[in-house]
Amino acid sequence: MSAEDSKDRIKGAPRKRWVNRKMHDGREPFFPNFLLKEWIAGAMFLTAFMIWVINNHVHLGSIANPSDSTYIPMPDWYFYFLYQFLKYFPGPDLAWGTVAVPIISILLLMFVPWLDRGKSRRPIHRPIAATAMVLFVFMSIWLTAEAYQQHQYEVSGSAGGGTKSAAGGLPFAVSHPTSTALLNTSMPGYTVFQNTCSGCHGTDLKGGFGPELLGIGNEATSSQLLPVVKKGFNPNMPPAGGLTSSVQIQQVVDWLATQTQK
Ligand code: HEC
Repeated sequence: MSAEDSKDRIKGAPRKRWVNRKMHDGREPFFPNFLLKEWIAGAMFLTAFMIWVINNHVHLGSIANPSDSTYIPMPDWYFYFLYQFLKYFPGPDLAWGTVAVPIISILLLMFVPWLDRGKSRRPIHRPIAATAMVLFVFMSIWLTAEAYQQHQYEVSGSAGGGTKSAAGGLPFAVSHPTSTALLNTSMPGYTVFQNTCSGCHGTDLKGGFGPELLGIGNEATSSQLLPVVKKGFNPNMPPAGGLTSSVQIQQVVDWLATQTQK
């Protein structure tokens, strides 16, 4: 092994004398060495990912509502960069963003073995590939952040009145609590709720035509709920759910504000 060889060896890759004496340049056989390493890394990642998913439940958003025209759809976060990228190709240029650039990128990736024929694996000896990768990583992160910020801005713009907007355009994001027992059922607002609101929000607050309200007390106080309930949601929820007595409206929001199921 010359000094030159050892320089190009990727750290952690077996030295050639452990692998195959006939391979003179620090390469290693694809099978089984390389495949086994890939497999171990994949298995470790999958296990860690499964543990993470089991311990971090993703909460469902609110029920899909076709008549909500203020809802701004967004792709999953790992596609934010593509989503943002498309915004820079408006109108007739759209074909560039949706077809041309992705196809050119894929073709470039396919032709890498012919485009970059250098033997060295050190990034510093491969300036074009290294620069392309740094640029790609940088652009992905930047576009993702940009998409996220613009979305936050659009959502806060469409909700109006400074109310924070939950997924699906609702003012309060209830997080589908695990405890579902109704609290303080002796309060007068409980009866008002059962008589007037439960038809849409469920006698158990779990929702139906209207969204789930379990745990809404964690998100809103009665003074925050009052204007929202009073106004209603045209056309889905009549003002105050149809209540006319301001005493009863106050009672029902007071009761809702105590529903702090976790
Ligand atoms: C006709 C059905 C209907 C009735 C009756 C009704 N709601 Fe609603 N409510 C809805 C719908 C639907 C929404 C979701 C708004 C939307 O889709 O635009 C909603 C939303 C809400 C929200 C906002 C939830 C959130 O997560 O931000 C609150 C609070 C609420 N209703 C309280 C009440 C109360 C209190 C009553 C009784 C006084 C009531 N509703 C009666 C249909 C109803």
